[in-house]
Amino acid sequence: MTHVFGGEWTEQKLVALKKYLEAYRKIFTINEKARYFRTVYIDAFAGTGERSDKAPASEKPTLFDNTDIDAPQATGLHKGSARIALELESPFDQYVFIDKNPKHTAGLTEMIEHDFPNLRSRCRILTGDGVEIVREQLIYGHDWKRTRAVLFIDPYGMNIHWDLIQRIAATQAIDMWLLFPLGQGMNRLLSRDHLPNPGHSAKLTAVLGTDEWKTRFYSSQTQTDLFGIESESSLKTATFENMVEFLKERLSSVFAGVASDVMMLENSKGSPLYALCFAAANKAGAKTAIRIASDLLRTRL
Ligand SMILES: C[S@@+](CC[C@H](N)C(=O)[O-])C[C@H]1O[C@@H](n2cnc3c(N)ncnc32)[C@H](O)[C@@H]1O
Repeated sequence: MTHVFGGEWTEQKLVALKKYLEAYRKIFTINEKARYFRTVYIDAFAGTGERSDKAPASEKPTLFDNTDIDAPQATGLHKGSARIALELESPFDQYVFIDKNPKHTAGLTEMIEHDFPNLRSRCRILTGDGVEIVREQLIYGHDWKRTRAVLFIDPYGMNIHWDLIQRIAATQAIDMWLLFPLGQGMNRLLSRDHLPNPGHSAKLTAVLGTDEWKTRFYSSQTQTDLFGIESESSLKTATFENMVEFLKERLSSVFAGVASDVMMLENSKGSPLYALCFAAANKAGAKTAIRIASDLLRTRL
């Protein structure tokens, strides 16, 4: 497991994505069989194409949505995922960029029109909820028999649902990079000395697609009070590593392949914020995809 600390993690995440997209497009240009497919890049939480080191105040977090990213003070603008995908030497046949903030999609549109006019006709820029729109894209957007896609899911908080993960895997056509909110999302819902409240429990079950997390993350303890009356209580015993193992198991239950390596993105105090994971839905392509992604996840880039 690679551990990346402090503000460096955003950079590391995007370098891994960039290198993967380069390798991916190379395969689909060089390999004769692969050339048959139309390739699509889908960015479900696309941003503006640029990013500053610190999220603007207007993006301050809620647990299930935008969550503070513990980034260092702003030091200027850097390339975001959308720009990275558009700058590839061999571009994708189509791009789908989604962001729920209309200012972000407007900024992205302007950037594409200004800096990538030749690619404008290949881009769909959609304002709305990333999860809902990806779901629509999966059902109506593409002919998955003739299309292969890379999907980047880069939320601040716990936006994903297991139902969506299952649908992505069911296309048998998508390679998914998922930034899973670990310390920034899941761990905050896991109370230390009792099971989470019903709302938090339901959220965890919706994200993971099972309530098995209760027995995987908690141990039951029997306590006896002063009057000799026994009662059961639950204690959180799972470490971040245990949580990641469980997440990988869940992904493996639906995807053709899941990278065993994960990049742990940590804050400056060494506490895990996110786990960057990779899963491939296409059986024939999974082996190569997993090999490339694992190398990127294993190495400090
Ligand atoms: C971590 S940033 C994405 C950064 C981007 N991938 C990059 O590298 O530049 C998260 C983005 O998700 C957007 N966002 C937040 N909630 C969303 C939602 N439910 N659906 C789609 N976008 C959302 C925010 O407006 C923000 O631009």
